[in-house]
Amino acid sequence: MTKNAKLVLEGKETELPVTVGSEGEVGIDISKLRPQTGAITLDPSFANTGACESAITYIDGEKGILRYRGFDIEDLALHASFPEVCYLLINGRLPTAPERAEFRTRLSRHSLVHEDMKKFFEGFPPSAHPMVILSAMIASLSAYYPESDTPEEIELNIIRLLAKAKTLAAFSYKKSIGQAFMYPQNDRSYLENFLLMMFAVQSEPYEADQTVRSALNKLLILHADHEQNCSTTTVRTVGSGGANLFASISAGVSALWGPLHGGANQAVIEMLNVIRNDGSNYKKYVDMTKSKDSDFKLMGFGHRVYKNFDPRARILKDAADEVLAKLGVDDPLLEIAKQLEEVALADSYFIERKLYPNVDFYSGVLYRAMGIPTDMFTVMFALGRLPGWIAHWLEQHNAPGTRISRPRQIYTGASARPWVPLDER
Ligand code: CMC
Repeated sequence: MTKNAKLVLEGKETELPVTVGSEGEVGIDISKLRPQTGAITLDPSFANTGACESAITYIDGEKGILRYRGFDIEDLALHASFPEVCYLLINGRLPTAPERAEFRTRLSRHSLVHEDMKKFFEGFPPSAHPMVILSAMIASLSAYYPESDTPEEIELNIIRLLAKAKTLAAFSYKKSIGQAFMYPQNDRSYLENFLLMMFAVQSEPYEADQTVRSALNKLLILHADHEQNCSTTTVRTVGSGGANLFASISAGVSALWGPLHGGANQAVIEMLNVIRNDGSNYKKYVDMTKSKDSDFKLMGFGHRVYKNFDPRARILKDAADEVLAKLGVDDPLLEIAKQLEEVALADSYFIERKLYPNVDFYSGVLYRAMGIPTDMFTVMFALGRLPGWIAHWLEQHNAPGTRISRPRQIYTGASARPWVPLDER
């Protein structure tokens, strides 16, 4: 394997070290490029830029491989529980049986939020999107649980965040439908408590449906990490300036909200509804994506990294069939999604650009079948991604020599010019 790369700039040769990852990925180390050559690299949207070394998640976009800490996503989706995956991502290994039990107990014990925080919910208008509430509430946790320095304090704040985020998410839903908040119960698991806080009412007993619980488990695991995506990069960037865990993760929630990122799951269902109401003319919408006069894109299609298939989408497509059948739900949007996929995948535009359904294409159909409202879909993505964001924040926090993230630019504005007094402009 080559140890150095050579760059020739204006006739001068510079050697650049090469770093090779554990799966053979090659990175040319340009950290000394500017002092050595005076030049920088230009890579808008960072498609070719490695921002860090990380031991958390591996993706091979050509082969459709996704692994958390070395474990295939297919195995985790089949065998693991979501709290187990949280433990794995954050600690780097699977918990033993006693560790798993203790982790679950701590996640239950810390799931209550400070009573004063309930007043914050009253300040939002009824139309507030639950993502803005989640982002604001997670940032607000830093007012109650001050910045921590020791590894023990950091670990406690991580447990608090994992435990309380689902309470805050469920409260935001209860607020939006005008129902009383439901408190978590310590004898229930992480997922049972989330479903209880979402769907139970105080006047009736509640037991979560087993099919719903295991579908939710799978969905959260599939979303749990995805290496240096937009929101994780945001968490790392904010964290690199020394911001605390809650502030950094709150920024990640905001970054996730956009329709090109986590907001795509809501956008997919809205798009499928439009297509359905317009007579299910799939070709019309596939053709619209090619038109020079339209910005229309098939939501839930395409990915920066996956260029063959997204393994998460495959798992969710199968799960959608199984879960809807078990729940006895007949959702016409599932059939519309499948037919749209078939038409798009046969189209040369999609073939040439290697555009396939991504994780967001089938997740919304599943959330709908579970009774989760459309504007909560991206919140569900955030709950799933939380352990990934935390693992990356922690990895960076503990890495020796971490510096503040601060890209450079190629300036294209006006050159120096003299000040113009107001009456001469
Ligand atoms: N529908 C139609 N055309 C598309 C689509 C799409 N969904 N996605 C990409 N293209 C085209 C794009 O117009 C471009 O064409 P051309 O080469 O002629 O200019 C080509 O494919 C390459 O796309 P790109 O925009 O350069 O790709 P990107 O890596 O910058 O963007 C993406 C990736 C996911 C933002 C984009 O595919 C997209 O906007 N998809 C729809 C939104 C979506 O589903 N987002 C969820 C992503 S998965 C969950 C997550 O990680 O957040």
